[in-house]
Amino acid sequence: MSPSRHLHRTLIVSPATAPLRGEARVPGDKSISHRVLLLGALAEGETRATGWLPAEDCLATMRVLRAMGVEIAHESATTVRVRGVGLRGLQEPEEILDCGGSGTTMRLLLGILAGQPFTSVLTGNAALRRRPMGRVTAPLREMGATILSREMGGREKAPLAVRGMTLTPMDYEMPLASAQVKSALLLAGLFASGESTVREPGPARDHTERLLRAMGVALRVAGSHVTIAPPSAPLRPLRGPENTPYSIPSDPSSAAFPLVAATLVRGSEVRLTGVGVNPTRTGFLDILSMMGASIQQSHSADATIEPTAYIRAQGTELNGAEIGGEVVVRAIDEFPILAVAATQAAGRTTLRDAGELRVKESDRIASVAQELRKMGVSLAEREDGFVLDGPARLRGASMDSHMDHRLAMALAVAALLAEGESRIERAEVIDDSFPDFVELMRSLGAEMRWEDEIL
Ligand code: S3P
Repeated sequence: MSPSRHLHRTLIVSPATAPLRGEARVPGDKSISHRVLLLGALAEGETRATGWLPAEDCLATMRVLRAMGVEIAHESATTVRVRGVGLRGLQEPEEILDCGGSGTTMRLLLGILAGQPFTSVLTGNAALRRRPMGRVTAPLREMGATILSREMGGREKAPLAVRGMTLTPMDYEMPLASAQVKSALLLAGLFASGESTVREPGPARDHTERLLRAMGVALRVAGSHVTIAPPSAPLRPLRGPENTPYSIPSDPSSAAFPLVAATLVRGSEVRLTGVGVNPTRTGFLDILSMMGASIQQSHSADATIEPTAYIRAQGTELNGAEIGGEVVVRAIDEFPILAVAATQAAGRTTLRDAGELRVKESDRIASVAQELRKMGVSLAEREDGFVLDGPARLRGASMDSHMDHRLAMALAVAALLAEGESRIERAEVIDDSFPDFVELMRSLGAEMRWEDEIL
């Protein structure tokens, strides 16, 4: 297809007429797949990882690293080899680094680029160019990096130009709980002239800390403070036990879709293997169990760096819940699908403290409200959350993804519970994190099909 033409895909979903049943493995963790490439690039030696996620967002990270001279090979779609260039081995990119729609690529890369003795320019697609970058650029400037950005509506946006250098160590109190900000600053800390500390207001995912430690970096965690010392020896490449490839767990954020679908479709039983259950990611399981869901986990004994579990979900009746506080950051990507769960719960569900949802791939408070309304749900928007009275009778509708992968998948699950067929326009965006979503849901018994149009 020529670059000026693109594929517009509509996902057509039929209401479930039978329970969902079966065992499946959802693809590799997106956050960890990004980090394996970024950190593997900074190591000396070869990182090998299995379970890597070949989704659009992670492919963007792969592209930008290659543009700086990092050799990355695919042994298969999900097994990658990264030839690390060391902390000082990245080359100045000749071209603008395009991060696609991936906020993680852009923000973590900013931390690395702030420490490089060269100039680089970063951009992304229209949705990424609308997202706030000041949360990362401001502290990196305090560490000494020069960063120029576009300013829109009083906020810093991409494209961004970075001129890096040896950075000044910093003790930084983050105003919001964000793993992307925390990770960017820890990565910048690798290039500082002394120890840096990051203090976070909530438990944002800690994959960067776990991986850096496994690579030999001296990193101390005390409560909500993380202190990193610039390494005196090269970073060790990532490997599993006995030099096996590092095995990336399945993404709990992807697992949430089949698990909630199984909870909501009467009589279902779905089992998922090898799901990452790092406690900074499992807030949605805590919320679902608070709502009365029947979800059991059995932890695997052999997991290294990140804990994993076998998870089984069965159909159950849910009750509404009051959601707020620290669990919100541990469930930050799961609110589109949790809102769908709330439509089927008896009583009121209230979400608070989730203002961050407004600056995700879409404004997830507004987009979820707008699309669920088309199915007959009345969801009252709040600045930092929503109020939803359930259970609601859903009707099939024609909806839009807002070019947000998690919204598209959440709507597909809602459509299983509706009366009549639903259409989700621009659902090709699902490829950003879960390219096999439709196949996996079909293998469990859901009826979904694609209708393609070349624009
Ligand atoms: C991510 C952190 C979260 C999350 C995003 C992935 C990461 O973003 O929403 O999908 O890999 O660090 P914030 O750090 O902006 O909360």
